[in-house]
Amino acid sequence: MHIKGIILAGGAGTRLYPMTSVASKQLQPVYDKPMIYYPLSTLMLAGVREVLLISTPVDLPRFRRLLGDGRTWGISIEYCVQPEPAGIAQAFLLADAFLDGAAAILILGDNVFYGKMRLNEIVRDFGGGGCIFGYPVGDPERYGVVEFDRDGRVLSIEEKPEHPKSHYAVPGLYIYGEDVVLMARSLRPSARGELEITDLNRLYLDQGRLRVIRLGRGIAWLDTGTPVSLLEASQFIYTIEARQGLKIACPEEIAFRLGYITAAEFAELIDRLPQCDYAEYLRRVLEEAD
Ligand code: G1P
Repeated sequence: MHIKGIILAGGAGTRLYPMTSVASKQLQPVYDKPMIYYPLSTLMLAGVREVLLISTPVDLPRFRRLLGDGRTWGISIEYCVQPEPAGIAQAFLLADAFLDGAAAILILGDNVFYGKMRLNEIVRDFGGGGCIFGYPVGDPERYGVVEFDRDGRVLSIEEKPEHPKSHYAVPGLYIYGEDVVLMARSLRPSARGELEITDLNRLYLDQGRLRVIRLGRGIAWLDTGTPVSLLEASQFIYTIEARQGLKIACPEEIAFRLGYITAAEFAELIDRLPQCDYAEYLRRVLEEAD
């Protein structure tokens, strides 16, 4: 099944004020690179090469300046404005022309994943319906929460419940089949006036077409919504990068290693970068691959 990627990078990021008065949350650094590099890398590692980035009218030009059309990374990036923050599920209505009947994988621009999720296999084997994830957290009331029965079947999904029925949060990573735009069209705005992603998931669940993959140990899903969690995410990335001498979520490296670009294209791209540690790192990746 042909799957296209969507990154939703909207929202006001009020909890990160005053930093977000300069640039949106998803442009803030997570250690050594802008936050948006992480979800973009997640999509690239999943084998997705056509991406639509949705953001606010103010921030969209900034994303465009940072990422361009994706060609130098062997992918294509298109852009679309979300005029008002009208909910995550609205992304599919906005992406109708881009998707053009394809299946979709949506990732939120502030979701940082690390670890072997085998997302490329999940995407490759995806046969339609909805596919979301469940990740154990200490504070489930802040997220969409999924409840399972003893046999692991999904019983319910609730958005930010006061009394969570489990500690499994639903991360901002969703895969839907070719009917996703149609399904999203049938949603009605919630009490807070948004098209809720949880309502879309419930729709698939009610039709018996929702799969929830539980992510366990060995995978990090990091929060980046507050100054403290942003600092913790940066420290996490720093610790692993410093220890291994490998960078996490470096789109240039991923493009090269996955064969999205040739060694010659990789070398050219590096030559266009300013003198910095980031460029030095990429040069080393290229040399070690020779
Ligand atoms: C959104 C979703 C929620 C999900 C979360 C993941 O919440 O509504 O279901 O668990 O993203 O990041 P938000 O972060 O927009 O409050």
